[in-house]
Amino acid sequence: MTKKPLRSQAWFGGSSKNAIMHRSWMKNEGIVDDSFDGRPVIGICNTWSELTPCNAHLRGLAERVKRGVLEAGGLPLEFPVMSLGESNLRPTAMLYRNLASIDVEESLRGNPIDGVVLMVGCDKTTPALVMGAASCDLPTIVLSGGPMLNGRVRGEMVGSGTAVWRYSEAVKAGQMTVQDFMDAEAGMARSAGSCMTMGTASTMASMVEALGLALPGNAALPAVDSRRAALAQLTGRRIVRMVEEDLRPSSILRPSAFHNAIRTNGAIGGSTNAVLHLIAIAGRVGVPLGLDDWDRLGRGVPTIVDLQPSGRFLMEEFCYAGGLPVVLRALAERGLLDRDALTVTGRSIWQNVRDAENFLPEVIRSFDAPLTQEGGIAVLRGNLAPDGAVLKPSAATPALMQHRGPAVVFHSIDDYKRRIMDPGLDITSDSVMVLRQCGPRGYPGMAEVGNMGLPPKLLAAGVTDMVRISDARMSGTAFGTVVLHVAPEAAVGGPLALVAEGDMIELDVAGRRLVLEVDEAELARRREAWVPAPDVSGGYVGLYRRHVLQADRGADFDFLVGCRGAEVPANSH
Ligand code: FES
Repeated sequence: MTKKPLRSQAWFGGSSKNAIMHRSWMKNEGIVDDSFDGRPVIGICNTWSELTPCNAHLRGLAERVKRGVLEAGGLPLEFPVMSLGESNLRPTAMLYRNLASIDVEESLRGNPIDGVVLMVGCDKTTPALVMGAASCDLPTIVLSGGPMLNGRVRGEMVGSGTAVWRYSEAVKAGQMTVQDFMDAEAGMARSAGSCMTMGTASTMASMVEALGLALPGNAALPAVDSRRAALAQLTGRRIVRMVEEDLRPSSILRPSAFHNAIRTNGAIGGSTNAVLHLIAIAGRVGVPLGLDDWDRLGRGVPTIVDLQPSGRFLMEEFCYAGGLPVVLRALAERGLLDRDALTVTGRSIWQNVRDAENFLPEVIRSFDAPLTQEGGIAVLRGNLAPDGAVLKPSAATPALMQHRGPAVVFHSIDDYKRRIMDPGLDITSDSVMVLRQCGPRGYPGMAEVGNMGLPPKLLAAGVTDMVRISDARMSGTAFGTVVLHVAPEAAVGGPLALVAEGDMIELDVAGRRLVLEVDEAELARRREAWVPAPDVSGGYVGLYRRHVLQADRGADFDFLVGCRGAEVPANSH
């Protein structure tokens, strides 16, 4: 049987003028002649950046990947793509997720690459790179950078993100000094790595493991654990074999993989951001996935991982307990996992995890004694969210899951910031806080502002949670009875744009309802009077606003949905 020549040989093979050009310029890097003999060329797609602190260690980790690639007989070639640092990038990293995915897709397609290792970490870097690679469909494996070591402040274990939300509310309530708040900074970020709560980064690292795109153990090993370096090396070895096996994302990212990931998200108490990202990734490989799948598959999946923001512990403990393989095994034994789903190991997910052992049962609990009974993402519908909205029950206050109250409306994030500190603000703990113009088009980029802080006067009175509704997202590290991703968003004339001060709103999580108690005739009158904000933005933001899909469709660009393959129609010279 003759082996199909590798894609990279269309660049590096033979004696044509073009082949000589391609090889000659590469040799200025000191690459030896036999590196171009037809061995797999492995792209190491790196989101390393000093502006993305969570990924700042990925340059070093890439060297370990290269070691593995070389051991397995491949040629590793590292290249940078746009890096999205959640903590620094304004107005929000989500604005650039789709842009980074274009960078990845085009870099892969246009270069002599046979397979790729995606080096990711901070929140949006994971979906951006997976989306781009999925649209190209070359053999792909993901390596996450791993979480930071646990935060420690004054002897207390504190989780990144989660502690910031908690402390800032404590400062507003007069229960913590500003100096103490500032002193906590360094203690919350003690090592390289991503947020060590079950925020979006840890959630997405778990999602790629549950989807079968990463080696077992990818999600939980701390960034600075020596086993993370070993995992990088094994990842490098494995991608070379995947190229030989022609094992592509289109074979792995089947409906069963997404169903497994959705249930896993429920079991780990994962971030609401995963809803958007998984829908967007599924769109790239032509798998139909929508909000109703999230509700249907996640309903009744208890959260068994006791991690902040829903629970007590942090990613270090999750790792010591055995990490995600323990959760996947538990899901499978409860009949909640498709055991046959294929993974990057070339084996099924069940073969990968069937021997996983739980070493800390208080961290990864049993399904009989879960952290919360309802771990999935609740998808709400009603006249306030005809195309859906989401809520994370495990992060919400049980007493508020059924609530009716008058709306206090903030017309934009600036309006919220202007008025929230005002002691004269007409608001009580029964009020429903409504924030609009924060969706994909409105913000733009759908910022993580949906968990808007409570008014100081209510915090000081001991109120710790209120119902909040918006077309925004919320950080995976945040908590509260927060209704997010309302679709259609206010900026495109969704009903959220029509809510007036004092309107009664009913939230019924068990019934999956979100109702604005205003009759249709009055809503029609308000709709008639509604004027969209003029869109004068140019450049990338203008492109984004024109093409971004609504939250229920993953906020991808309309023209990026689908897989375009790795064929290149023409040569460069
Ligand atoms: Fe990067 Fe949280 S800010 S993972």
